[in-house]
Amino acid sequence: MPVTGLTIEPLGQRVGAEITGLDRERVESDPSVAGACMDALEQFGVLVLRGMGLDDSAQVRFCRRLGRPEARSTRAVPEIAHISLDPDRSPIAGYLQGTFDWHIDGTCDDVPAKATVLTAHAVAEQGGETEFAGTYAAYDALGPEEQERLARLRVVHTFEASQRRYVPDPTPEQMADWRTRKPMEHPLVWRHRSGRRSLVLGATADHVVGLEPEASRTLLDDLLERATSVDQVYRHTWSVGDTVIWDNCGVLHRALPYRADSAREMHRTTLLGDEPIQ
Ligand SMILES: [Fe+2]
Repeated sequence: MPVTGLTIEPLGQRVGAEITGLDRERVESDPSVAGACMDALEQFGVLVLRGMGLDDSAQVRFCRRLGRPEARSTRAVPEIAHISLDPDRSPIAGYLQGTFDWHIDGTCDDVPAKATVLTAHAVAEQGGETEFAGTYAAYDALGPEEQERLARLRVVHTFEASQRRYVPDPTPEQMADWRTRKPMEHPLVWRHRSGRRSLVLGATADHVVGLEPEASRTLLDDLLERATSVDQVYRHTWSVGDTVIWDNCGVLHRALPYRADSAREMHRTTLLGDEPIQ
């Protein structure tokens, strides 16, 4: 349903839209805004709200209107995780290089996140943009024969696969740590409750069940390359105060590399999903 004064303009050819007509006050006070955002999220995959300047508590209140925010940070606001390469500012800094590759959040969880909400508190001088590519669009772009063939395949996802590219010679402690996350097997083609279908790809995709390692790698790399070709991608260049929301069930994302000593700091809220990959 249209919401007065709120406009939604597509950003990329395939994914992404900018929402204007909102400010921090309206996000918190107008109950129709959340529904409009979730509808737009389903349609466009990524929503950009520039310069909203949400502080942590405002972000959490907004997220509670959008869905169910995960609350497992040990910080003062448990729904907010700090994303930074500085271990003093982010307890997950050591794993974040893995996010420089295309991925879907939560492919190693029983149920992946529904959506992720990120607000920029400090930006990198160089790099640090976030890129998005639609996985519904990636499926839709395939021919019918390929769609049918891929629908029969299953893929094992591991956290280890996402870390190994950056840590090719892990210590036994690192291996043991990575392997506390159990491997997950998912279909390559996700049949969503909505009836839409998407490809499940990205850095955690370790191998295709039943294929030789080389054939498996070639297939996964080729699909990812096609899904993330330049014309499929929306790249967000951050300014402090920007909030970006993405539909984690229909979008691949990655951060472009930035320096380890960068000031870049994002505050993230994860909206819990309720639909396993099936
Ligand atoms: Fe991510």
